[in-house]
Amino acid sequence: MRLGIISALHEEQQGLVEAMERPYKLIHGMREYWTGKLWEIDAVAVLSRIGKVAAAMTATTLVEKFGVTHILFTGVAGSGDPSVRVGDIVVAESLVQHDMDASPLFPRFEVPLTGLRHFASDRQMALELSHAAQRFLEREFMDAIDAQERAAFALQAPRMHRGLVGSGDQFVSHRERIRALGEALPGLLAVEMEGAAVAQVCFELGIPFGVIRTISDNANENAATDFMRFVKSVAAQYAFHVVRQFCRQARVQASRVSAGT
Ligand code: ADE
Repeated sequence: MRLGIISALHEEQQGLVEAMERPYKLIHGMREYWTGKLWEIDAVAVLSRIGKVAAAMTATTLVEKFGVTHILFTGVAGSGDPSVRVGDIVVAESLVQHDMDASPLFPRFEVPLTGLRHFASDRQMALELSHAAQRFLEREFMDAIDAQERAAFALQAPRMHRGLVGSGDQFVSHRERIRALGEALPGLLAVEMEGAAVAQVCFELGIPFGVIRTISDNANENAATDFMRFVKSVAAQYAFHVVRQFCRQARVQASRVSAGT
């Protein structure tokens, strides 16, 4: 396995780069690609920047230039459903480009000439991410997140959800908009700006991928309030712990495979 790890924001990537063994930086297409070992897994960590084009460009480069075999995307998202709260984790089982609309030529949300509205993430990666997220929330969350920040963001007993994630080139910050998206896309759990673009690239290139998001806001008028504070003091910690656990699990899997058990 050579794991490409894409973060949307600098704060999330920083911890991973610091944890890397023998890190080596390569600049390509205005991005810094950090190669090295992360918890014994061969990895390439990169900041995609924001939006679908930025994410698609990054994912393509990871595969074509860096030869990654799997891609993991970590970041934050707005809630797409009242049952999904700030501080919860969403593991994508499938992803949709919520701003794709080539109707009446093609059905709304369908990516023209693929025949698909929803792009499924890799089942095994989603499963491993769910285990990693669950373990983090149950065993590490209390120590990993400062008490003051837990109180400030009213993080009490955060939960993990699995399901549909919507991506679009839009920071959703109006309650009517998120409500309309939820109505048009049954089962929508979260909205963000990159995941479905990575999903399409990975689908087209035949690369297994997973997307995990920490809910930072309710995609309403308050969405931008304290956004950067949340990313720094909460989401960066979530991403670090979940990726570490994911790599440890991948390491165990790999040694089982080589031992033939
Ligand atoms: N990422 C985090 N919050 C978001 C929102 N409200 N809309 C789009 N992307 C987001």
